[in-house]
Amino acid sequence: MSGPSSDYDPVEVTPLRADEVEKMRDDALAAVATAGDLAALKQARQEHTGDRSPLALANREIGALPPQARKEAGRRVGQARGAVAKALTEREQVLEVEREQRILAEESVDVTLPWDREPRGARHPLTTLQDRIEDVFIAMGWEVAEGPEVEAEWLNFDALNFGPDHPARTMQDTFWLEPAAAALVLRTHTSPVQARTMLTREPPIYIVCPGRVFRTDTLDATHAPAFTQVEGLAIDEGLSMADLKGTLDHFWESMFGAGITTRFRPSFFPFTEPSAEVDLVCIACRGEQPAVATCRTCKGEGWMEWGGCGVVNPRVLVACGVDPERYSGYAFGMGIERTLMVRHGINDMRDIVEGDVRFTVPFGMEI
Ligand code: DAH
Repeated sequence: MSGPSSDYDPVEVTPLRADEVEKMRDDALAAVATAGDLAALKQARQEHTGDRSPLALANREIGALPPQARKEAGRRVGQARGAVAKALTEREQVLEVEREQRILAEESVDVTLPWDREPRGARHPLTTLQDRIEDVFIAMGWEVAEGPEVEAEWLNFDALNFGPDHPARTMQDTFWLEPAAAALVLRTHTSPVQARTMLTREPPIYIVCPGRVFRTDTLDATHAPAFTQVEGLAIDEGLSMADLKGTLDHFWESMFGAGITTRFRPSFFPFTEPSAEVDLVCIACRGEQPAVATCRTCKGEGWMEWGGCGVVNPRVLVACGVDPERYSGYAFGMGIERTLMVRHGINDMRDIVEGDVRFTVPFGMEI
């Protein structure tokens, strides 16, 4: 049987003997000092300060000592634990600096490595230009509308007031789809999107519709059987030719810079009345003397032809279910390839059509 606790000599409680505590501390300090990286330090921390570490166990023993012995033992263990904690903190700082330096050294970038082994593609400049045109109108609160490339004859022609014997319907211009009874064409212009929009929506309508159109032309330096147009349509109460002029002037200034204005020449389109051809002041010479005399962009004209426009014919409004007594509107249409060619000095339409990446890459990735 063990004796009463008054005989209990704390020096004899092994884990709390001064030399034992010193050994625990020295073992811990040695483990900390020899930890080569943060993982090893974590391990040392666990072994020497964790719940089951010798110093933690010794600390727990203190409570079991008679009161008079607790103070001395507590101080001894406390000092040992403090020394270990301090050593851990210091070692951790050193190892963290080392790790950062190692990462910096190992992760250095070899700037001499080739970066372009995978040739990159490029956006077609026509797509980029189309986006830009859309952006100008979106900024004015307009919407982008789309229609199909295979279109009903009625929407491509009849709804737009083309008479049954209008020359544009003939085999010369239009790709007709088989069987003829289906009355389907590859759309010859983006104007049928006007009709589609009016048939499905209530005014006010402000839309632009860029898209691909088809005509039976042979590919050469200035023609392509498939090309791109952008159509605009505004239907609202009280719109006039003046609104059309202001809109187009703003559009062309946004595309080519301040001072690029438009001029209207009387013309004819079945779907507009009155109709006009839009000319744009030459972006190269601006029609100014003496440059205009030798200007190759406008061939000395000072103006460049750009497309058609006009006030929407009331017959079109009626065909598309819009009340011409209440609403009026204007429309315009133009080819985008031509804009691209003039804007970038492209001389041959075939460069735009062929899709050779050597042509598109110099335009960069403007988005
Ligand atoms: N659709 C016409 C064409 O392909 C262009 C055009 C002219 C569109 C006048 C319009 C317009 O909206 O009002 O040649």
